[in-house]
Amino acid sequence: MTTQDDLQGLLSRMTLAEKIGQLNLLAAGEGLTTGAETSTPLAKRLDAGEVGAIFGTKSRASTRAMQERAIAGSRHAIPLFFAEDVIHGHRTIFPLNIAQACSWDMELIRACAAFSAEEASSEGLHQVYAPMIDISRDPRWGRVAESPGEDPHLASCIAEAMTRGLQENNGGRVSACLKHFVAYGATQSGRDYDNATMAWEDLLDIYLPPFEAGVKAGAEGVMASFNAVNKMPMHAHEPLIEGWLRRTAGFGGLVVSDYTGVKELVAHGLGSAEMVVARALHAGIDMDMVGEDYLRHLPGLAEHGLDAPETGLFISAETIRGLIDRACLRVLAFKAQQGLFEDPFKGMDPLAPTPNRQAGRALARKAAAGSCVLLKNNHLLPLKPGQKVALIGPLGSDRANMLGTWSVSGDARDVVSLEDALKAHDWASLKTAVGANLVREKWLVDRLNVHGVTVEPDPRDEAALLREAREVAEAADVVILALGEAKEQAGESSSVLCPDLPEPQRRLVAELAAGCTPVVGVIFAGRPLALGKVPEQVDALIYAWHGGVAGPEGVADILTGAAEPTGRLAVTLPVHPGETPLSYAAEPTGRPFPGHFQKFLTGWLDLEDGAARAAYPFGYGLSYGNVEYSAPMADVPGGGEAGMAEISVDITNTSERAVTETVQLYLSDPEARITRPGRLLKDFRRVPVAPGETRRVTFEITAEMLSYHVAPSLAEAQKVWDPGRIIVHTGPDSRATKSVEITWGA
Ligand code: NOJ
Repeated sequence: MTTQDDLQGLLSRMTLAEKIGQLNLLAAGEGLTTGAETSTPLAKRLDAGEVGAIFGTKSRASTRAMQERAIAGSRHAIPLFFAEDVIHGHRTIFPLNIAQACSWDMELIRACAAFSAEEASSEGLHQVYAPMIDISRDPRWGRVAESPGEDPHLASCIAEAMTRGLQENNGGRVSACLKHFVAYGATQSGRDYDNATMAWEDLLDIYLPPFEAGVKAGAEGVMASFNAVNKMPMHAHEPLIEGWLRRTAGFGGLVVSDYTGVKELVAHGLGSAEMVVARALHAGIDMDMVGEDYLRHLPGLAEHGLDAPETGLFISAETIRGLIDRACLRVLAFKAQQGLFEDPFKGMDPLAPTPNRQAGRALARKAAAGSCVLLKNNHLLPLKPGQKVALIGPLGSDRANMLGTWSVSGDARDVVSLEDALKAHDWASLKTAVGANLVREKWLVDRLNVHGVTVEPDPRDEAALLREAREVAEAADVVILALGEAKEQAGESSSVLCPDLPEPQRRLVAELAAGCTPVVGVIFAGRPLALGKVPEQVDALIYAWHGGVAGPEGVADILTGAAEPTGRLAVTLPVHPGETPLSYAAEPTGRPFPGHFQKFLTGWLDLEDGAARAAYPFGYGLSYGNVEYSAPMADVPGGGEAGMAEISVDITNTSERAVTETVQLYLSDPEARITRPGRLLKDFRRVPVAPGETRRVTFEITAEMLSYHVAPSLAEAQKVWDPGRIIVHTGPDSRATKSVEITWGA
């Protein structure tokens, strides 16, 4: 069953009810334990041929039982496909996606995705709800954790790398599902599930490019987002789904709703339950996840159509039947593409071997070290053998929170805590103290522990915790402070009002900074937290995120120098939570910020001078070595007539350690038709540089890199580029750059 004719033939033999059944996407819940169970609601649906796919399966045996049941319940023996949230790992949990993004290492990101695919496919899964490629510029939004960060170019590279990794067949593949389509990261106030309103230019140039890259890389699925974009909820957004995604970007796969996303159109105010089903199907949502509204309302709509003059909607019964055929054919084509008609039970043999977990662990450890961003180092790191180390802080001995937000199939018992990782290095007699609680308020602890206990506050009062921390610190040569947030403080439905390092932890830092023992701060978090004065108070600082199953071991490798720090921020770290949302790529104002407060220029009245300079910008990260940059050199053939230029920069390793430098290229268009981002990342290279070595890095600039949208509306969007002046910036991050101006095509 591979050709379009075969599938059309199958479609023509199906009843309306059978077609609608294919559009129903259900959660497995407890699944089936044996094929013989009869009474569960899921079993009944399977017997009636009313399920097209299932996500969230528990075991190979249960998956097999559901598949057998579905095939038996279908006159045409149409199998189910199985999906799962494999976001940053399946059984082997890799660092959070925002952490992986900080590696800027596409080969590493591809490899993590490929290993996840191997694990997922070996358990009978066909599709994973990844990559999540929502540009995220608001640290209040909890889902920054699963995102590729703030920049469209970096996110597009990640979309491509992850899609390739998931879908390549190197021991097992799964189908990628790009999500959340679209602009979910731009929701108002950083509040999850809220709506987004923005210039169409921003949608086209910031939020859509990663989807374009994922589609180009061959992604076979897309999931719609919960939010509205410019007043139209995405589950009913025909111009973006059938329009931009399919017709403009050329997507040819399957679009699924998010969890009850179709039903939620009623709450969005788009009409009755029946009306919103017609609108979602018309917009291009092929499968309805969990809500079962397609199942409930499509039979009636297929008979009577929808005539809702009060909303200006008229869709004939015949059109509805055509839309059902369209969606059903896409589901069947997706199943054919996964080889399901030939082998519906692949990966479901309970006795089949599983992928090599040791190899996965080694990769996870490498990814964890590669995701750490060294923010500050006053010659304290790497640690020296023989130094007496104290480990203080609420996350020093933690395992469960290290996994990060999406660890549905992970196991905290697989995590080695930072305490144990350091003991395994050179510090068997390491002394520890809690120092501060992550959270004290009972109501908040209860919210964080809703899916199992990961936060257990120490019952002692703050003064007692600080006293103990001080004593432990005084007896050591170096303090490692393991700070941050719990895994459930980030992720879905975990937006926060104030994305900063909580006060008790900041008091702990201040307390220890007042002592004589140097302090290394390590931040384990799911979002970019505003760190306030912490960077000034500590002697060295690492942003380690939630690093997955081998996260703390990766940190220990960095601390000891077993691994070199190579991470660079994929999101700007705010100085203060009130700055959010923020990005290095902000548009210039007519009254730019001069670096300190000045009346009648942009800035914050209540932000201390100097504080802004302490912020760590996008692209920032230190190495243990040191690299110097030359100014960029431009070669513009034919005076720019060809719309192409070459930019070279020399980088010299002036230290005695080998370095992997991430050389970044930014462009500014100072004279454009509309106001444009002050600068935009357009390319980067990770370059190994030996001690004393100079390497020349050459980038090619094309007119395409400088093109942008002018869009009074989505329908009128036009891609343009401006001949004339361009400023090219190269450097180690988005701020510390040197520039050259070129002119072309003018
Ligand atoms: C809701 C989330 O928004 C989405 O990312 C996820 O894939 C689905 N639930 C399924 O779990």
